Amino acid sequence: MNSLPIGVFDSGIGGLTVVNAIQEHLPNEDIVYVGDTARVPYGSRSPGTVTEYATQIAAHLEHIGVKEILIACNTASAVALEAVAARTSLPVSGVITPGAEAALELSGSAPIGVIATRATITSDAYRSAIQRLNPAAEVVSVATPLLVPLIEEDCIDKPFTADILQHYFEPTRLHACDTLILGCTHYPLLADQIARVFGKPVVDTPTATALTLAKSLDQRNTRNESDGAGSLSVLLTDDADRSLGIVSRRLGVRITETSKVDLSELAAPETRPPDSPSA
Ligand code: DGL
Repeated sequence: MNSLPIGVFDSGIGGLTVVNAIQEHLPNEDIVYVGDTARVPYGSRSPGTVTEYATQIAAHLEHIGVKEILIACNTASAVALEAVAARTSLPVSGVITPGAEAALELSGSAPIGVIATRATITSDAYRSAIQRLNPAAEVVSVATPLLVPLIEEDCIDKPFTADILQHYFEPTRLHACDTLILGCTHYPLLADQIARVFGKPVVDTPTATALTLAKSLDQRNTRNESDGAGSLSVLLTDDADRSLGIVSRRLGVRITETSKVDLSELAAPETRPPDSPSA
């Protein structure tokens, strides 16, 4: 039993898709969520910059006092998980391994598709995670950078969103795949539209991630066993964000409080020996 909150962070507010799944599967856990809205997007930045931002946020969460750190951001999970784990004594996990495992469970012999930000696709983190588990698995990876702005601009149901999805699917081998990883925090909000274009199962990474987190808490005996719904504190690095309202309303996440964290409070952490991270 450990009643400290779970620390979750993302480049912005998209990671609330993962928080939503945690609230569903671990309803009495308290959550502190950091959204780096002052420096979003991470998906077009270099691995070094994303790693610097991610390690700062993880150090801040450790300073606040959390029992475990979950990197909800696919880009940060892809490029910075090992660096974050090396700088903290807390358990650290990300979204790549749960997504890869869930995809392999759904997939038959056809390739597995991955759509994500440019940084995640360039890192090849999903391919590595999938082929670590099944070296024979084929992966088709496509960067789909227009999707995050469409979601943040509340254009999910617009006809041109379907056109943009076609633009990404038609010229690529995604149609040859039998399952698709939505490798970006925001994409579960577009899952219905993507499933219509893809026509086959899409992986529910937030649920897979929440279930992996539940296992990690069980292994460490650190579940919060107190009664009642857990709280959700949202800390943003910029002033209140318009897309916070759009995303949280669409998901129906229960936010207890929102506040601003000053970037200057995100100090560089000390280096610690690596744990054995699993992205
Ligand atoms: N959170 C990012 C991810 O999951 C998407 C937004 C961004 O580019 O920062 O990759």
